[in-house]
Amino acid sequence: MRPLKLRVSSLFGIYVYAEQMTMLLLRRAAQTAVRTSHRRSFCASQTHLSDRKGLVLGVFEKEGEEDSLHLTEAAAGFDQTLSGKLSELLKISGPALKQGKSRIFYGIHKDFPCVAVVGLGKNNAGVCGTENWDTSKENIRQAVSAGCRSLQDLEVSHVEVDACGDAQSAAEGAALGLFQYDQLKTKKKTKVTTQLHGSADSASWEKGVVYGEGQNLARLLMEAPANHITPTAFANTIEEKLGPHAERVTINKRSQSWIEEQQMGAFLSVSRGSEEPPVFLELHYNGSPDSKQAPLLLVGKGITFDSGGISLKPSPSMDAMRADMGGAATVCASIVTAAALKLPVNIIGLAPLCENMPSGKATKPGDVVRAKNGKTIQVDNTDAEGRLVLADALCYGHTFNPRAIVNVATLTGAMDVALGSAATGVFTNSDWLWEQLHKASVVTGDRVWRMPLFQHYTRQVTDSQLADLNNIGKYSRSGGACTAAAFLREFVTAPHWAHLDIAGVMSNKDEVPYLRKGMSGRPTRTLVEFAAGLAHDS
Ligand code: BES
Ligand code: ZN
Ligand code: ZN
Repeated sequence: MRPLKLRVSSLFGIYVYAEQMTMLLLRRAAQTAVRTSHRRSFCASQTHLSDRKGLVLGVFEKEGEEDSLHLTEAAAGFDQTLSGKLSELLKISGPALKQGKSRIFYGIHKDFPCVAVVGLGKNNAGVCGTENWDTSKENIRQAVSAGCRSLQDLEVSHVEVDACGDAQSAAEGAALGLFQYDQLKTKKKTKVTTQLHGSADSASWEKGVVYGEGQNLARLLMEAPANHITPTAFANTIEEKLGPHAERVTINKRSQSWIEEQQMGAFLSVSRGSEEPPVFLELHYNGSPDSKQAPLLLVGKGITFDSGGISLKPSPSMDAMRADMGGAATVCASIVTAAALKLPVNIIGLAPLCENMPSGKATKPGDVVRAKNGKTIQVDNTDAEGRLVLADALCYGHTFNPRAIVNVATLTGAMDVALGSAATGVFTNSDWLWEQLHKASVVTGDRVWRMPLFQHYTRQVTDSQLADLNNIGKYSRSGGACTAAAFLREFVTAPHWAHLDIAGVMSNKDEVPYLRKGMSGRPTRTLVEFAAGLAHDS
């Protein structure tokens, strides 16, 4: 055993075990190790530091009286090739790895100079009834993201990742955890490529990468400054992303004149104050083999900047309103993802895109506008603009006879007050649709929570002095998310409609550990999983 260990130590230049050796042997061995290590580190510096490969491996929490470590299959295999070195190091390097934490070992394997071991929590934790998510999947996303990030901090450029028993979740954790919006910075984080370690379940890994990248596209659009992502730039970006799927996708970038022809007076009342022309983006993804199959309709609020208009918002945090197109971003990113996955389902995406700005032309509090369906709206607060653009998009969307309508919007600050960033609020007239969305969110960990659509709230928006509707509830702040939903309902006749208020989940500080601070791109993966579920059902 000794000579073998010596050989290992001289190979990697790190560990020298010599308890039972004579002093002479020790000195010789040490000299060899030092010489070898010099040679190796010299080689390393010649072959670019940034070419180094990393590896992420998982370890579960010990259960009961279990004595040995509970490594994943891949980690156990790796440990075996090192004659137990990894588990030995794990034991001597500190306490058992907590869930979501990572620890790095250097120089233990010739192919992987840096190995990050990550804590996965309990094995087979499964779905948690109170948390409303699959804890195992969430733990894998968290742990893999932590491991990948700690290697990225070391400027490792390629990382192999342990499937940890669920390759899709591992890939999502890697893709989401490594994302950073630094396009506009001179100093950027190391670009890391990832790959599944071993050959198990590469299809699930690839699927996870597509899911993660889908959410990252929404994050990119939401995070980008409003002078970069104007309505026109947004539409062009989506068009470009759908380019590779042109066979199954048609895109219409409707201009102001088309919007006027459609008599979308509510949408136009919002865009009036801005110098940027509005765009009504319409995407058709024809994935079903049955081209006549009724489509799923997704509608996203696309306010590329919400200043509040004449009802101007206060300056602190106004910059965050560059992400007020989060509904449009998540909807369009879901369609790009559905296309990449070739989901066998038809989807139509609508995004009314414009800025909400104050100016001499802007809509004024008390103005009355007419929506596409003829209903008149008294605009008492120009900052409640999301419901106006959505009203017209919903009216137009009904013309496609969709099997279900889901609109997504950063609609109300009140939604953030109600649920914070724990879950997207869902207001729906359909128990079936609720169940589909909820089921999808348990899988993705990007949760939804059902909210009420009582007549109680409807009465508060239909009591208007000058028009059929008022764009704010008459008891101002009370139940603000619910009165906004009640307002939207006045533009819906379809039996399966859901309104997702994503204001609370729009950005991330540190609540979701596998998303860095910034705009979240939530709930893109839930929308994709939901669409995949519909594809499966039909
Ligand atoms: N875009 C905002 C809502 C919002 C706030 C989204 C914070 C994300 C974070 C929306 O247009 C808005 O301003 N809503 C008003 C409605 C009110 C005037 C009835 C709000 O929530 O204060
Ligand atoms: Zn607003
Ligand atoms: Zn808004």
